[in-house]
Amino acid sequence: MCGIVGVSGRADACEVLVEGLRRLEYRGYDSAGVCGAGLDGAMAGERAAGKVSALAAKLAARGGLAGMSGIAHTRWATHGAAEERNAHPHRAGRVALVHNGIIENHAALKAELMAAGRTFQSDTDSEVVAHLFDAALDVHADPHDAWRAVVGRLQGAFALAAVSESAPGLVFGARKAAPLLAALGNGTGYIASDAMALPEDAATIIYLEDGDTVVAGPGSADVRDAQGRPAQRKQAAGPGVFGRVDKGPFRHFMEKEIHEQPEVVGRTLAAYLDLAGGAVNLPAAVDFAAMNRLLIVGCGTAAYAGMVARYWFESLAGLPTEVDIASEFRYRDPAFAKGDAALFISQSGETADTLEALRLCKAAGLITIALTNTPHSTMAREADIVLPTLAGPEIGVASTKAFTCQLAALAVAAGAQRERMDAQAVQAAIADLSAAPRLMGEALNLRQGVDALALDLARSDIVLFLGRNSLYPLALEGALKLKEISYIHAEGYAAGELKHGPIALIEEGVAVIVLAPMDALFDKTRSSIEQVRARGARVIAVADPEAAAALDGQSALTFVTPAAGRLAAPIVMAVAVQLIAYLTAVHKGTDVDQPRNLAKSVTVE
Ligand code: G6P
Repeated sequence: MCGIVGVSGRADACEVLVEGLRRLEYRGYDSAGVCGAGLDGAMAGERAAGKVSALAAKLAARGGLAGMSGIAHTRWATHGAAEERNAHPHRAGRVALVHNGIIENHAALKAELMAAGRTFQSDTDSEVVAHLFDAALDVHADPHDAWRAVVGRLQGAFALAAVSESAPGLVFGARKAAPLLAALGNGTGYIASDAMALPEDAATIIYLEDGDTVVAGPGSADVRDAQGRPAQRKQAAGPGVFGRVDKGPFRHFMEKEIHEQPEVVGRTLAAYLDLAGGAVNLPAAVDFAAMNRLLIVGCGTAAYAGMVARYWFESLAGLPTEVDIASEFRYRDPAFAKGDAALFISQSGETADTLEALRLCKAAGLITIALTNTPHSTMAREADIVLPTLAGPEIGVASTKAFTCQLAALAVAAGAQRERMDAQAVQAAIADLSAAPRLMGEALNLRQGVDALALDLARSDIVLFLGRNSLYPLALEGALKLKEISYIHAEGYAAGELKHGPIALIEEGVAVIVLAPMDALFDKTRSSIEQVRARGARVIAVADPEAAAALDGQSALTFVTPAAGRLAAPIVMAVAVQLIAYLTAVHKGTDVDQPRNLAKSVTVE
């Protein structure tokens, strides 16, 4: 979603800002802009619809922007179309401002500002904040006081950064229910919505809290809490040069991340399993044995990881488990009972709906657990217990390695403490899971065969994915992956639900991808295959060797994934559905890492 960078105290401020925007590109956006401010306060900016490269070309054409400080933004349109005039920074008098989030009372504020004679150039809710700041600078002698007065008038969710001609060298920031951090390094002060945007010399990161304002100067960051008191906030070392991620030999980040999975799933498992001792190492505070019910909440792919885990928690641990998407959960007035605990799954740890669901559960007195890939995220800071996934930075908008790492951690958690399994069953489960990284490596060999299929799929109008049991959520995930990056209409269904609607979509040649391991439900899966085949579907099976042999002749094409136990099976088959989506998108020529309209981290509702 929108990205923010601010810098104070560098002669190459504008280059640093534009480079920061490039590093934020992975979040998804549709326009970009920058504003530089000189030591005398004089400001100049540039904005462009489309990619950061379009902005960079405009800057190059005018010989760059001078300035020792400035702000920059990538915008994911909410209020107003993705056009240059709606791109940030917005200018109002002496102020330039960028904003992530939604100002809910913007209409009332705009009416007030217009009545005072101010005119607006954009359709955005953000522009009102620039005008408010400009007006407040007339009233308050201290610019930080002016900034705090403005922030105090705003309702909604926001991260803001601003510069002003009347406060040369300073960058103003504010955070409420949207991510923003400050950073220091080498005589420079920074503000950013995401640590990824920071340059190598940003040695210290300061994690702002909701309600904070900050004024960054050269090498300084004055952080105040909502009451205006100086605030000490949690600090961490910056990403440094080693925190940088590149594509290596791969064409896309998504491709690289798919191939990294054996390593990062292995790393995540090693954090939770003592393989030598055959034991499970969950943080001491996690006590699934004490729970009567587990609520799992997430969005998108993270919610599907939770749906897979429900099968494991219920059948292995006998723990009643419910899974909900965060945007529904938080508004459906959920009923809680004694012994409920809530687990929130989020790669970024910043997804707005998941975060609010966490807060709702915390306020209701539930134990809250965050399973996240981002250890300093808001969810990690606010949850009672953090279960990290060790996928490393995930840049492709479509989640791959974070998903399989979530599955790996969830598989360990399920059944670990409920004593439903005897020692032998625990050892079998550990052996099942421990094989996952190696088997994922073998599944990557499917690439060549999948590539031939992908060429055909790229010409499809519709693709169906079917699965049963823990492979049903993987069918949903396979369809989500394909539609996200190839823009082909794809749907995932529980195979048993076929006759209740989706079978009406089947006609000659429609591709149906069936996840078919040799499990207790194999015969039922096979009969679903027969039913769609009888109606002309082109069946593509993803099957382990035993199932593939049993399906002989029933599928038009079979991708044979290595034999895996019930815990490893969805993790291993995930590689196949990811390759299908990725290679189809490559054949379609879409923007794989930054698909249209999508954002990596959805920090507004
Ligand atoms: C966005 C991303 C998805 C991701 C979802 C949840 O929609 O494009 O890849 O699954 O958000 O994100 P989270 O960071 O909470 O896991």
